[in-house]
Amino acid sequence: MNADDLKKLAAARALELVGPGMRLGLGTGSTAKHFVDLLGAKVASGFDVLCVATSEATQAQALSLGISMSTLDETPELDLTVDGADEIDPQLRLIKGGGAALLREKIVAAASARMIVIADDGKLVQKLGRFPLPVEVVPFGLEATRRAVAEAIAASGSAGELKLRQRADGTTLVTDGGHFILDARLGAIDRPELLAQALNMVPGVVEHGLFIGLAAGAVLAGADGLKLLGEIE
Ligand code: 5RP
Repeated sequence: MNADDLKKLAAARALELVGPGMRLGLGTGSTAKHFVDLLGAKVASGFDVLCVATSEATQAQALSLGISMSTLDETPELDLTVDGADEIDPQLRLIKGGGAALLREKIVAAASARMIVIADDGKLVQKLGRFPLPVEVVPFGLEATRRAVAEAIAASGSAGELKLRQRADGTTLVTDGGHFILDARLGAIDRPELLAQALNMVPGVVEHGLFIGLAAGAVLAGADGLKLLGEIE
């Protein structure tokens, strides 16, 4: 099985958690895309759910599959969000935002009674930080914010280069919310809670990719089968 097959396997297992009439948060990224595809097939056979997307890309995918879509304004409380992650540690702390959707992903996860992560088991790490931590910032005052972010990182005991995320064509990436992303190459994050708090204090930081206390469980697919972390049923 290749990595994409594993992502699909994890998505299929998470679909078993979805009951009729549920209000669902739909994640973003290649793993979440499998989940939305599978959900779309179920909806096509008459299954009823109401969903909120975490990105414009997921919204478009879900609508194209005939899934009923809502917003957090109309549906502010969700039963379950299923989303991917860039890294997961054994305490279910996550790095997210590789797909630039971290702001909406965090808002949707926080509005959900449960967030379940789906991923291939290569995403499971003992310590977060090998994946660059996305920090979403407003364009105004970018250099001042970049310096303040670097100071917050240093104050929490981490260190590393901050890189403004670019698109493949060399232009600066702009998120669905109209913001930029600074990717912090930290290597290892010794104190994720402290770093999260420090980043939350920086004016100009809209959100960061540390998801702490949000995921209730994870479905991880590997060559040996499925590994379930936390509360899955
Ligand atoms: C998007 C995300 C994604 O969930 C994360 O990047 C994982 O993506 P993939 O499933 O493609 O590996 O956080 O902002």
